[in-house]
Amino acid sequence: MGKKLLIQDDKVPGIHTLEVYRQRGGYASVEKAVKTMTPEAIVEEVKKSGLRGRGGAGFPTGMKWSFLAKPEGVARYLVCNADESEPGTFKDRYLMEKIPHLLIEGMITSSFALGAKTSYIYIRGEYFYVARILEAAIDEAYAAGYLGKNILGTDYSLDLYVQVGAGAYICGEETALLESLEGKRGNPRIKPPFPAIAGLYGCPTVVNNVETIAAVVPIINMGGDEYAKIGVGKSTGTKLISASGHINNPGVYEIELGLPVEEFIYSNEYCGGIWKNKKMKAVVAGGSSVPILPTDLILKTAKGEPRLMSYESLSDGGFVSGSMLGSGGFIVYDEDTSIPMNLYTFNRFYHHESCGQCSPCREGTGWMEKIAHRIVEGHGKPTDVDLLWDIQKRIEGNTICPLGDAAAWPVASAIRHFRHEFEALIPKTAVAH
Ligand SMILES: Cc1cc2nc3c(=O)[nH]c(=O)nc-3n(C[C@H](O)[C@H](O)[C@H](O)COP(=O)(O)O)c2cc1C
Repeated sequence: MGKKLLIQDDKVPGIHTLEVYRQRGGYASVEKAVKTMTPEAIVEEVKKSGLRGRGGAGFPTGMKWSFLAKPEGVARYLVCNADESEPGTFKDRYLMEKIPHLLIEGMITSSFALGAKTSYIYIRGEYFYVARILEAAIDEAYAAGYLGKNILGTDYSLDLYVQVGAGAYICGEETALLESLEGKRGNPRIKPPFPAIAGLYGCPTVVNNVETIAAVVPIINMGGDEYAKIGVGKSTGTKLISASGHINNPGVYEIELGLPVEEFIYSNEYCGGIWKNKKMKAVVAGGSSVPILPTDLILKTAKGEPRLMSYESLSDGGFVSGSMLGSGGFIVYDEDTSIPMNLYTFNRFYHHESCGQCSPCREGTGWMEKIAHRIVEGHGKPTDVDLLWDIQKRIEGNTICPLGDAAAWPVASAIRHFRHEFEALIPKTAVAH
């Protein structure tokens, strides 16, 4: 059994209530933080823990917090990114639905560390019922003195609001999220300035993922050094993985970083192997945006080492033979899956979700969808696979926000590793033009 720090109590009846959450030791980090620690000391513990952002990019959280500008007399904000729209990712939903107070506790402790007096949880529109769960928990926290004026009798005060988005993937990109939170269309901002300097309402802002903020709770309870002992190398702590696809036990798992991928897929403690006794064909390890890897490369790196569930191991080999841990959206495909069909589904998604600001993304995602569609429909042209490759190359790195990259990488990796499947769908009689 791997160590669990976040969802170990997910099956405890009534854990969504303040009463049961407190019986299980809940809100200890708030007591410790606001009564016995300085904000700087909390930032230091988070730095020592080695925690990396769980939203996808894996940026060190303590370092991000230390970048926050602190001009006198200017408000600072903590915004929790609960947009979770990356296909294959549903771990934040699970955490908020089952243990809402864990996120609220993390928000309070983190807001105190950052000097924020108003904080927001921005949640995707489709999670409206989860927003209700969070709001009920926030009401309980206010009534118990964990939120509002003079928290636990100290001079620290905090208001926490839930803002429901309208169901746009782009609003998970942090600057688009801030635009949306300000009541505007969710278009990503050009950076710099970064949110740490000019974020919400032009004020210094930290945007962190749900799981990142929840992880601050065990870090403050156990200390950054102890947390850093869990995991492997620079991938410290535990990670929530949303496991889906052709496996026997889909669901949300908390793993200790460093777990071998093979064990995660085949152990009954986790995915329980491939369904219907079939063979595995490929895995998308970190949400739809990250490169797909065929079986041999997801189980072992190109150097022949066992692939581990960690930031470093999953990206070993770069994009030629590696991928990314990303958001931990782990999608497994069996031997009967059509990779071109799967790619077409992803292409449709990114085309639909592109905000349209940047031409390469707005136009390129549409072309990729159109070409992938005619390939899977059996009307592809001999030049189509190269054309798809060419288009994704022209999108990558050429847009304001990484949605363009997110749309390009699945195309590049599907062609790199499964080109033969695309070519097999192109009629031999087709003429190039
Ligand atoms: C198109 C797009 C969608 C994103 N969606 C999410 C999301 O749903 N949740 C999330 O936490 N981060 C998402 N991100 C990453 C955020 O921009 C940001 O890096 C993250 O919230 C930072 O939190 P972290 O440091 O705790 O990971 C997205 C990024 C892009 C480009």
